[in-house]
Amino acid sequence: MIILAIETSCDETSIALVKNGREVLAIKTYSQLAEHEVFYGVVPEIASRMHVEIIFPLIEKTLKKAQLHFGDIDAIAVTQEPGLAGSLLVGFTIAKTLAYTLQKPLILVNHLWAHFYAVFLENHLSVTFPYVGLLVSGGHTLLTVINSWSDIRILGSTIDDSVGEAYDKVAKMMNLPYPGGVNVDNLASKQGCKEVYPLPNMLLNYEKDRYNFSYSGLKTAVKRFIEKKPDYNPEYLAYSFQKKAIDILVEKSLLLCKDKNINSLLVAGGVASNTYLRKELLKTKKINVYFPEIRFCSDNAGMIGGLGYHLPKLSQKEYLHLDIKDKIITYQDKQNLRT
Ligand code: KG4
Ligand code: ZN
Repeated sequence: MIILAIETSCDETSIALVKNGREVLAIKTYSQLAEHEVFYGVVPEIASRMHVEIIFPLIEKTLKKAQLHFGDIDAIAVTQEPGLAGSLLVGFTIAKTLAYTLQKPLILVNHLWAHFYAVFLENHLSVTFPYVGLLVSGGHTLLTVINSWSDIRILGSTIDDSVGEAYDKVAKMMNLPYPGGVNVDNLASKQGCKEVYPLPNMLLNYEKDRYNFSYSGLKTAVKRFIEKKPDYNPEYLAYSFQKKAIDILVEKSLLLCKDKNINSLLVAGGVASNTYLRKELLKTKKINVYFPEIRFCSDNAGMIGGLGYHLPKLSQKEYLHLDIKDKIITYQDKQNLRT
């Protein structure tokens, strides 16, 4: 089965053709980074307008790359939630229209759960539920138990900023380019930056917040540190921040695995490309840890087409009255509200 997948939940317009949930025949992603960079965050209005401009040529280019035609497609999959309302609406409307015109089924995909599915793209890894799932992105920091692709339970989350958001804000404080996560990671990973500056642990109430996270205190501590020591060494500071930000993710993921007696962990989202997170988790011999390929960590339509293969295929009668789901306020929204 060949699925044409559409992802427009935030600032990436992405189209993919995915065969039998595994093989990405072609994928084209247009990142709107340059459009939003000057605002140091995604501007929803600009994002949805860009999706409208980009999406049709991108669909054509993706089909051409795979040497396929609309007639070869068996179903359309699209991100229905969560994301920016305007951006979701563009992808959803086009997906619904295409499905109707081509008389093919429509598949509605949750963007967050698709991030986990990215682990299984372009390989033959067998899927053996249950998993603990750690989702780390610019909008979310979640600890979940994945019992099946349609039964994913959130057991913990951040109580304030997401980990990606903390990375981006610290990068901004250090005058690194947007989005800052990868730049902080690169600085922190440089040879010789083993001196650790004093930053606080983000300890929460052990029972009540057993699987939760908090990043706003760490972010403020970095701000104060820079004010007090403007001649700081950037590599040391990046390293010190990264250690505090990531160690807690590793600790709580392993704790949930232990509590639930689950020995496999999926790690997904933009921050799953972090070198220190990968190194620390892959070191552990207690559980099996799986990451997506780096190219499938950030937002992409491959993961939508992959997960879509395992979800209900809706008929015209079932999908015609449907719409995007309520948007969830993300980091990008919050950034925009502040500016
Ligand atoms: O999943 P994603 O592409 O978009 C959503 O937020 O949905 O994640 C983007 C986030 C940004 O905050 C970015 O700075 C962060 O992932 N990121 C990283 C790294 N690469 C991307 N954070 C830490 N280390 C990285 N190597
Ligand atoms: Zn995402």
